[in-house]
This record gives sequence, structure tokens and C-alpha cells, in this order.
Amino acid sequence: MAIRLKTDYLTSFISEHEYALIQGEVNAAHENLIKEGEPSEKPIGWMTLPVNYDKEEFDRILKAAEKIKKSCDIFIAIGIGGSYLGARAAIEFVKGASYNAKKKDTPDVYFAGNTIDPDALQELLEICEGRDICINVISKSGSTTEPAASFRVFRELLEKKYGAEGARERIFVTTDKKDVPGKLKHFAIEKGYETFVVPDDIGGRYSVLSAVGLLPIAVAGCDIRAIMAGAKKAMEDFSSTNIEENDCYKYAAIRNLLVRKGYEIELFVSYKPSFMYMNEWLKQLFGESEGKDKKGLFPASVIYSTDLHSMGQYLQDGRRIIFETVVDVLNSKNEVKVPYDASNIDNLNFLADKDFHYVNKQALLGTLDAHVSGGVPNVVLELDKMDEENFGYTVYFFELACALSGYILGVNPFNQPGVEVYKKNMFKLLGKPE
Ligand code: PA5
Repeated sequence: MAIRLKTDYLTSFISEHEYALIQGEVNAAHENLIKEGEPSEKPIGWMTLPVNYDKEEFDRILKAAEKIKKSCDIFIAIGIGGSYLGARAAIEFVKGASYNAKKKDTPDVYFAGNTIDPDALQELLEICEGRDICINVISKSGSTTEPAASFRVFRELLEKKYGAEGARERIFVTTDKKDVPGKLKHFAIEKGYETFVVPDDIGGRYSVLSAVGLLPIAVAGCDIRAIMAGAKKAMEDFSSTNIEENDCYKYAAIRNLLVRKGYEIELFVSYKPSFMYMNEWLKQLFGESEGKDKKGLFPASVIYSTDLHSMGQYLQDGRRIIFETVVDVLNSKNEVKVPYDASNIDNLNFLADKDFHYVNKQALLGTLDAHVSGGVPNVVLELDKMDEENFGYTVYFFELACALSGYILGVNPFNQPGVEVYKKNMFKLLGKPE
């Protein structure tokens, strides 16, 4: 299990001496990152989470997941932003993008509370008809409007279907540990729901390896011990501050070198549709962590070769403000070969008996060369495969890279003051009492 950084496609964009020159900034950023502070100001609990997690709570998560698996066909995780993207990314990464449609002995997993669209909500309510349901409402602050509103809808559904007692056995709450009237923890205590904690020193977008992500991920049948083991391995692998020994820190340095040269958009590229929600998670992680004080790289994402037929033209030939970060997954879970057809009417026998993984790899190699020759820097991150251990490893790699990169950029990668502006306006329009 590993992520390896390849700089072969960067040589015409970054000179060797630039790596040596930025090392001092990396050292300073590292010192800033590990400097002590109040948990709310300096939420770096995720850095040691792979070894310091609450073992008693971890066992309760496993028990709750078993109970949920036995008692429902549909599990709904209600949360937004960092309170749902990591879990969704993990399930698709490990189990595939069509997890819900597959034959399996675990519940379907749906996500709610990440939109206020009535059509999406109604669609899910219809999917729930005639099926047994459990829900997990996830909100660190315990007061976010989108999940709170959806929670009301599903709570009412469960109470009507199972009665107050029955619903209590099917509702799980993941939130801050403080009991504050009007907030989710207080509500959960009043109603007697089982609760899990979002640690004080872990912010939303860095929380997937806490109960926030682990309960939904475990319900989907993923091995959460293996996820933690993968994250622990990454924690050990990326402990040096020397960028020639630490691919994670070198990647953070490269992002900063490239943005200074005008490559302001980082396009996360994968050749696997099951990486799509990992891309979404990455966009939140980097966008919310770095986009402030009028600074920050703009994170975008594509799945190739699909999007080469929509965005490929722009990448090859459009404005030179984009660099690509390609996650090259070295092994696929399945082998599927292109069949041989004696008639060859479709002229496809040049692919006959070739594995789709191999064909996909040639698309990757061909695109790398094409885009680099077109003036697009490409960072390549090789990932062994898409299983639980590699998920934990990947999460840790990017969280650490993002935090360090933010400090090199000169921003606080742990706050998100900008998100309050829309909320204020929306609440005013909705007449929310002060
Ligand atoms: O990273 C963050 O802090 C945010 O994206 C939050 O995860 C998101 O706003 C949801 O917040 P909460 O978990 O408090 O409902």
C-alpha cells in the first residue's frame, strides 16, 4: 500500500534547484502546522488520529454497524460537506460507484441533508417506501440547516413507521460532545439516541476517519480497521520534513511552485469512475482550506477518459492556467478483456484479448504526453489499488498535503469564515430569529 509521487512530467515546468529553494518554506510551514494551539484554533487531531483514536468508541461503531446491517435495507447518512463527502468517497472507492445497485448482504446507503432540493428529497422518500430504514445524522456544529431540515423529515417518517420507541433504535447521531440547548447533542440526549463524537480538534473536512465517516463506511461492509491501518502507515511514511524523503510534502511544495507560475487551477484526474466522490472530497478539502484572503488554488476534477470527450479540448488547447494531478491506480479489482470477433466488422481486433485495465493505462500514458506537450504540468501520484487500506492511506496523504500546502501559501487551512456570508443572507430571507 502506498502513494508514490512521479515528477517525470514536471521537468519542463519546475527546475531541480527550485525544489531545494522551497525546502526552507516547507520547514517553516511544518513548524506552523505542528505549533500548539487551542483545539478550536488549531484542529490538528487528525494528524495523530490513526493511532490516537478512541478505541471504546471504535468498538461501539462496529457494534452499531452490525445492528444497522441486521435491521434495515436502507441506511441514510444525513450530513453536508465534511459530514458526508468522506463516507461517500470511501464507499464508492472500496465498493464501487454502483454499490447500491449491486447484490449484497449490506444495506443500500443513501445520503441526504446535502441539498435543500425538494425533488431529491422526495425521490429518496419514494425509494424508502416499503423498506426498513436506519438513519445517521452527522453534524459537528449540530446546527447546520440543510441536515437539520432533512433530519426532521426522516425522523417523522421513522416515528410514524416504527413509533417513538422503535425509531429510537434506528436513529444514530454523530456530533460535537458538548450538550448545548438547541443543538443536536442536546436533542439526542432528550430523545435517547445513541451518539458518536466528532472530536474538538478535528474539523469537518478532516473528519472522515472519525465516527463521522466510519459508521456509514462500516455499514456498507468496508473494513474500517484496515482503513485506520492504512492511515497509520501513511502517518509513518510521511513523517520527514525533507521533501526528497517525503512525497506528501514534495507534492505540497509542487502545488505552491506551480501556482506561483500562474497555474492557478489544480485539476484532479482519475481514470476510475469510482474515484469521482474522492475527487469531490478533494475539492472540498483543498477549496475550503485554501480559498481565503484572496489566495488559493482552485480545485477542479475530471474522470478520464470520459471527460476527455468533453473537457479534453480545453485541456489540450485552452488557457495555460491549469495543472493536472493524476491519481494513477496501478491495479484494478477485475480483469475484463475485449472479446475477439472473427468478422472484425468494427475494426476492433487490435484490442482483442487486451484487458480494459491495460487499455485504460494506455489512455493515461497517451494523455499525459499529449497534455504535457501542450504545456500542462502533470503531477502523477501512483496508488497501488482501491481498497480500504489504500483509502486510509490516501486520505491521510491528502489531508497532510493540504494542511502543509495551506501554510506554505500563507493561509489558515483549518477555518472557513467565507461560508458564513451565504448563511447570514439565507437566514435573513427565511426570517430566522436572531
Ligand atoms: O469542513 C467543514 O468544516 C465544513 O465543510 C463542514 O463539514 C460542513 O459545513 C458541515 O458542518 P457540520 O458538520 O457542522 O454540519
